[in-house]
Amino acid sequence: MAIGVKASHISFVAHFLGIVGAIMVLIWCISFRGGLAWEATNKNLIFNLHPVLMLIGFIIIGGEAIMSYKCLPLKKPEKKLIHLVLHAIALILGIIGIYTAFKFHNESNIANLYSLHSWLGIGVISLYGIQWLYGFVVFFYPGGTTAIRSESLPWHVLFGIFVYVLAVATATLGYLEKLTFLESSGLAKYGSEAFLVNFTAIVTILYGTFVIVTILSQAPPEDEYSYSAI
Ligand code: HEM
Ligand code: HEM
Repeated sequence: MAIGVKASHISFVAHFLGIVGAIMVLIWCISFRGGLAWEATNKNLIFNLHPVLMLIGFIIIGGEAIMSYKCLPLKKPEKKLIHLVLHAIALILGIIGIYTAFKFHNESNIANLYSLHSWLGIGVISLYGIQWLYGFVVFFYPGGTTAIRSESLPWHVLFGIFVYVLAVATATLGYLEKLTFLESSGLAKYGSEAFLVNFTAIVTILYGTFVIVTILSQAPPEDEYSYSAI
């Protein structure tokens, strides 16, 4: 199935939204929340690494990894390598981002894993890791037989889209949770920071939407038979 628009055109909208989202989360965590730190007496600075790494590292780089297969004007083996490496970077930054949330909790004597956001977060990162390992073993090294690869591909695409949509939903819950904590400690409900956080969440959702629309759009002509040619 392909929508009648060129994937590369749609992907430009996604890249633009990705840049806007990245700038917004940095302005929030640096200008409004006091900055980023790995070690600090103000433990909130450690927490601030979490949304930055999860949005820029996991959601945006993960989205670019997905779109790279559809849009780059390169040969299949090169696109496969770029897809694999970008997903590996997203996975590693995602794991470090989750670690920073645990680090903040542990150093502030706050319980771990008490929210829906945190449970979905553990689920998402685990499924992403499984997807990466399966993709690596079947499509890259040592590589499955032709039959295994062609049977696995539709499942890889379906499961990849599912995990990615779940990641965007999890991030949305994260913004909601943090903003709710801040508002219950006195942050103005209609203040500029509250608007910034809610609009960052909306940009995140729009970015994820355009990633999915990109992979449902028309690939460059030389790639028309990509699903069966593998
Ligand atoms: C897909 C992206 C994300 C994943 C996979 C994820 C995952 C997680 C996990 C596993 C925890 C639990 C840490 C612990 O129990 O010590 C957590 C905590 C937290 N995250 Fe995220 N996160 C994501 C994005 C975000 C974003 C964008 C925000 C926005 C601010 C956010 C806000 C929070 C907050 C406030 C907590 C502490 C409260 C809690 O444990 O629920 N997260 N996150
Ligand atoms: C968590 C990591 C991964 C996710 C979320 C993911 C997701 C996706 C998605 C959504 C597509 C469809 C893209 C499109 O239609 O243009 C795709 C295609 C593909 N992926 Fe992955 N992928 C991951 C890791 C890997 C790895 C490690 C490999 C190993 C090389 C791989 C190999 C492929 C191949 C061969 C295709 C088919 C492209 C085609 O023939 O059109 N993926 N992946």
